[in-house]
Amino acid sequence: MKPMHLPIFLLLITTVTTIVSATTIMMVNKCNHPVWPGIQPGAGHPVLARGGFKLPPKKSYTLFLPPNWSGRLWGREGCTFDHSGHGKCATGDCGGTLFCNGAGGAPPATLAEITLTAEQDFYDVSLVDGYNLPIAITPFKGTGKCSYAGCVSDLNVMCPVGLQVRSRDKRRVVACKSACSAFNSPRFCCTGSYGNPQTCKPTAYSKIFKVACPRAYSYAYDDPTSIATCTGANYLLTFCPHH
Ligand SMILES: *[C@@H]1O[C@H](CO)[C@@H](O)[C@H](O)[C@H]1NC(C)=O
Repeated sequence: MKPMHLPIFLLLITTVTTIVSATTIMMVNKCNHPVWPGIQPGAGHPVLARGGFKLPPKKSYTLFLPPNWSGRLWGREGCTFDHSGHGKCATGDCGGTLFCNGAGGAPPATLAEITLTAEQDFYDVSLVDGYNLPIAITPFKGTGKCSYAGCVSDLNVMCPVGLQVRSRDKRRVVACKSACSAFNSPRFCCTGSYGNPQTCKPTAYSKIFKVACPRAYSYAYDDPTSIATCTGANYLLTFCPHH
């Protein structure tokens, strides 16, 4: 090998090693309709996949997460976008664009949250900002507890009237608000004198979420064991896992 080729060779080796050791999230759409995943990085972390894209039914998309990345993922439904990516979604809309590009989704939306650290990853599914579709996170090839996290039940069909978000024709419940967004009171939002785990307890509303989805966060100070941990895993994130 000529010496001038060596740096390129080394660069290739480094690149390949980085890709192999990166954490991946494979997003799978098992819903019978398209989902437009949204991906919002935590402060200081890079935007991945431009923050959003369309995932047709039965399709998957693998996202490579850089070390120490943290952020949230959700599924937008009922979206229409023009050729330039402008439009809107019935649920989880991120400012009317296909590419969320760092923006979050409008609640209510089921959120998958993940934080990577050198020691272990933390992940959970949260209903703190409400619910729009079922999401499951399954780790594979990791070590540690590596529990399943998710909300598989259809909360839209059991959503109390005061929390319902209906489709434009009013015929279907398309999402279920958290009691905090619906009533905006300190007791439901765990703010003010309710701003700590001792005073902010489960409510009749959060209990409906918790009974239906025991492996998801139902309110801000839900049992911290709802956060799962795993080391060295890759993740499968499934929309509508039971379809
Ligand atoms: C990730 O975080 C750890 C601990 O803070 C740090 O030592 C390491 O350099 C970070 N890795 C990257 C690629 O930023």
